[in-house]
Amino acid sequence: MSFFDQIDKSRLPKHVAVIMDGNGRWAKAKNMPRVFGHRSGVKSVKLISEAAAELGVDHITLYAFSTENWKRPAFEVNALMTLLVDTVRKELNSLHENNIKLNAIGDIESLPEATKKALKEGIEKTKNNSRLTLNLALNYSSRWEITEAAKRMAIDVKNNVLSPEDITDHVFSTYLKTKDIPDPELLIRTSGEKRISNFLLWQLAYTELMFLDMYWPDFNKETFYEAIVHFQQRERRFGKTGEQLKS
Ligand code: IPE
Ligand code: IPE
Ligand code: MG
Repeated sequence: MSFFDQIDKSRLPKHVAVIMDGNGRWAKAKNMPRVFGHRSGVKSVKLISEAAAELGVDHITLYAFSTENWKRPAFEVNALMTLLVDTVRKELNSLHENNIKLNAIGDIESLPEATKKALKEGIEKTKNNSRLTLNLALNYSSRWEITEAAKRMAIDVKNNVLSPEDITDHVFSTYLKTKDIPDPELLIRTSGEKRISNFLLWQLAYTELMFLDMYWPDFNKETFYEAIVHFQQRERRFGKTGEQLKS
C-alpha cells in the first residue's frame, strides 16, 4: 500500500512546520554552487504545498530565512532574497488558483524593499483564500518573536490595556506572530541536523519532531505522505499516561 493510502484522512495534522535544510550540501554533493541548491529547493516547496492542499492540511509553515542567516556571505543572502521575490511573483497566480493563502511571519519590515513588496502583494492578493495557509517564516527567529511579544505586552501594561495578573499562556500566545494559527502538530527538518535553530520555540511545546536524513531539494510528495503516516503512528500523550489515553 502506498504511503498516501495509509494516511488516515480524518486524523490529519492541522499544521505542519518545516525546517527546509540542506540545500547547500545537496548542491555541493553535485559539485554545484550553493545557490543552485536553493533554486532546486523551490521545487520541493511547490510539492509540499500541493500535497498539503490536496490532503486537506490547514497550515504549513516553512522556515525560509532565519534572522541568523544574515551572517552568510552577502552573495548568498542576495541570491536568496532575489529567489524569494522571483518565486513569489512566478507562483502567485498558481497559489491563488489553488485557493492557497500566503502569509509571512518574521521581521518582514526589515527585508529589502523588493522582497517586502512582492510578499505584501502576494499576501494581499490571496488574503481571502481558504484551502491552505502557506506561512513563510522569513527573517524569522523565535527569540525575536518572543522578545517582540514581551515588548508589546509591556507597552499594553504601561497603557493599562493589560494587567499582569491577566497574562496567561493563552494571552501570551496572542502576542505572537502565529496568533491566528494553531500550534504545529508535526515538525519536519531535513538534512540530518537534529536541532530547532531558533524556530517556533514556544509553539513547538508538544509538537512531534521528525528529523529526516535527506536534503531539502530531494523532498517530495511521497516523503511528506510518509512523514504523516509516521506521525499518525505516534502516541501523543500531552503529559498523561498511555493507559489514560486508551480509556
Ligand atoms: C537551507 O539550506 C536553506 C536556508 C537556510 C536558507 P542551507 O543553505 O542551510 O543548506 P546547508 O545546511 O548548508 O546544506
Ligand atoms: C535553519 O537552517 C534555517 C532555515 C532552514 C531557513 P540553518 O542551516 O540556517 O540552521 P543551522 O545554522 O544549521 O542551525
Ligand atoms: Mg543549513
